Amino acid sequence: MEITEYSKKSKEYETSLLTAKKKSDGIYYTDVDLSLKIIKFLNIPINASILDPCCGTGNFIISAKCLGYNNLYGSDIDKGAVDFCKKNSGVSNIHIVDSLSNSGDIVLKKIGLREKVDFVIGNPPYVPISKDITINTFDYLFLRNVKDSGSNLFIAAIYRAFELVKVGGGISYIIPKNFLHVSAYSILRRFLLREKRIRSIIDLGAYFKNVRGEQIVLTLANEYSPNNNIEFFSYRQGEFVANTLVPQNFFSDEILLFSNVYDFKIYKKLKSSYKKLGDICTGYVGRGKSKSPNAIAGKNIRKFSFKNVPVPSNGNKIFIQNIYSAEAGIIASFAGNMEASETVTVFTDGDEKMCRYVLGVLHSRLCNYYLMRFCFNGSKLTMHADAKYLKKIPLIINTGTFTKVISIVKLLENISYMCNEWYEAVEDLNNIIYETYNITIEERKYIDTQVRLIQSEKWNYDK
Ligand SMILES: C[S@@+](CC[C@H](N)C(=O)[O-])C[C@H]1O[C@@H](n2cnc3c(N)ncnc32)[C@H](O)[C@@H]1O
Repeated sequence: MEITEYSKKSKEYETSLLTAKKKSDGIYYTDVDLSLKIIKFLNIPINASILDPCCGTGNFIISAKCLGYNNLYGSDIDKGAVDFCKKNSGVSNIHIVDSLSNSGDIVLKKIGLREKVDFVIGNPPYVPISKDITINTFDYLFLRNVKDSGSNLFIAAIYRAFELVKVGGGISYIIPKNFLHVSAYSILRRFLLREKRIRSIIDLGAYFKNVRGEQIVLTLANEYSPNNNIEFFSYRQGEFVANTLVPQNFFSDEILLFSNVYDFKIYKKLKSSYKKLGDICTGYVGRGKSKSPNAIAGKNIRKFSFKNVPVPSNGNKIFIQNIYSAEAGIIASFAGNMEASETVTVFTDGDEKMCRYVLGVLHSRLCNYYLMRFCFNGSKLTMHADAKYLKKIPLIINTGTFTKVISIVKLLENISYMCNEWYEAVEDLNNIIYETYNITIEERKYIDTQVRLIQSEKWNYDK
């Protein structure tokens, strides 16, 4: 069958599945356009054996066949998908196998393979393990590893892939992007960083429209190489675009998606030169808890003031809108001793001076760039300005600029919201923060451009 016809029929099969089954088994097939691109990108030797252990209707298999590969294998738990793939792809080595519950040895045997394969590819299911979604094995150590590494079927699939692939062989999986930074996945991430070679990471953005979050293509080699560089790519206008190379040993846990060498250079400079906000400000940072009808809600906050109440002069709290969008950046105000509801992130510190200084830093272009790129890992989705992210922001107190920042913040609290003078004051604030953090002119230009590309016109201070 011709590949476009195959793709159409595969979509029809996917649509025919019940929504509940799709969700419980994580059935969202990769379109052949993307699977073709991934296989071309991987540049696998033409005689290599390739296995997709959760192959669904076989979009990766048919793409590989189309590109001239013929040593192809697939398995899936869904009989309908396996039948479809066998019938329409002309590849016979496709079997109904639970490749997550069974160990690699058993899966290989069931597929009729005597040895491990050269390459494992695919898009495993992303489903949290629960009382309804289980992995049926008595292998206590395997289950424990999966549980400790985030308890999700895609985590099980990565562990199983190492049981299926030869030493030195490759694994390339589409997985959720938050694998790179969410702490629940830390154990597997650290295992990969310390014991395997991470060849490349492609940032796909929110590619799968019906799947929550964003996705990456993670490509690994089943070996360790001490001087490995990870290659970072993004997906733009249908192409994989090379961004930068970062030594694997630069990362000890979280993996940040650097867009280019500038990002990497600025990150290193800020991270190595300054302490984090969480190390300096040790007061409460977390959601508001008040149920009072007078409590301030996130939507009542605007940059440096409130929509419905005046900014207090004394106290020790900042209120930050908990919903963070890259288009608007941080929206926060000095809040004195007021109460906040749960749509607000409350920051408390010793006194009003420190609060106003931090408020100035939070609104700066530098801080929003840092948050977007390095705390939210370049996500374009709506995020939460939660304590765990805010605490990572580098904080420097420079006696020369501390009082200047505070007086600009006070000015912004007292003049008309978004008048010309207001925009000018925000721009002054940006410049002082750049100066405080020793950001060079070249770096400023880069950060300004990057933030303007993402922020809405409304916040473009050069009016
Ligand atoms: C996200 S879909 C991707 C399918 C295919 N690799 C693709 O990219 O189009 C995940 C697939 O995993 C299969 N699956 C779920 N649990 C499985 C298991 N325990 N063993 C084998 N396959 C499984 C589902 O049936 C589904 O076909």
